[in-house]
Amino acid sequence: MLDQLSALEAEALAALETVADSGALQAWHQRYLGKRGALTPFLRGMGQLPPEERPEAGQAVNRAKLALTEAYETREAALQAAERARSLSAKAVDVSLPGRPPSVGRLHPSTQTLRRVYSIFADMGFQVYRAPDVETDELNFELLNIPPHHPARDMWDTFYTTREGVLLRTHTSPGQIRAMREYCPEPIRVILPGLCYRYEQVTARSEMMFFQVEGLAVGKRITMTDLKGTMAEYARRMFGENRKMRFRASHFPFTEPSVEVDMDCILCEGKGCRVCKYTGWLEISGAGMVHPVVLRNGGYDPAVYSGFAFGMGVERPAMLVHGIDDIRYFFGNDMRFLRQF
Ligand code: PHE
Repeated sequence: MLDQLSALEAEALAALETVADSGALQAWHQRYLGKRGALTPFLRGMGQLPPEERPEAGQAVNRAKLALTEAYETREAALQAAERARSLSAKAVDVSLPGRPPSVGRLHPSTQTLRRVYSIFADMGFQVYRAPDVETDELNFELLNIPPHHPARDMWDTFYTTREGVLLRTHTSPGQIRAMREYCPEPIRVILPGLCYRYEQVTARSEMMFFQVEGLAVGKRITMTDLKGTMAEYARRMFGENRKMRFRASHFPFTEPSVEVDMDCILCEGKGCRVCKYTGWLEISGAGMVHPVVLRNGGYDPAVYSGFAFGMGVERPAMLVHGIDDIRYFFGNDMRFLRQF
């Protein structure tokens, strides 16, 4: 029996040498050390031996079991180490490669300009009032004193929806009516920023979509002086100290009197250049005193209340400040342009 045992031990150790992966190792374990493995009959057979042979045989079997178990564990550790080394070298990370920096997004130049405008007007007590881009003909035109077929509509041709009387607003002015109707009879000081749409030939100077900021102040003793002071302070904060302002007579159906607000050209300091078309002046805003009809449409009695309003572009000042010569860049989604701000 002892001969058979040592033959088995030798066979098992030899077989273990050829085991090359953990699957084969498990099979080996089952075959020799498992419950029904080759060693089990020796342990079981112990009872059939004459009592005096049992201690020696028992020790021999235990020694063989211990030897095989140790050999198994050594082999297992070696295989695991080899497998780990293999997977490390297969999935190797080259730590010397330069990292990929996360790209940081930024605000669109129109948004940046808008935020400067908000903070300038906030310092003068103006709140931001939001009004929708999709408007009714009534708010965009009629309540602003522009009846159907009025020739002034030519200035604000827009995109109409398939719903009768519903359109994309051509200016932020309809928000004046909304704000007045919401706050009446309280005094108002708001700016109304947002996109406007015009059915126009798209050129370097005009887009079919652009930002405007409307301003509206309504109260009991508001005069044109307040409008002028507000515009001058805006120009000073936006474009620098010592800006010269000029009010030029104009016409809008929803203001009376109406003006164009001009500022001396920041590029040539008023001497005359290509940007100001050699006039020395840049137009920054349409403005005026709120027309009595519009005040009444907003709910205010024009005999008691007065107000001023203005509406200015956002891309134009951004173009001036950054020297951008084509308004189409703003909505072209070209990263080469956007990355510069
Ligand atoms: N809504 C006018 C425009 O888009 C601008 C404006 C606003 C003029 C308010 C006067 C008062 O051209």
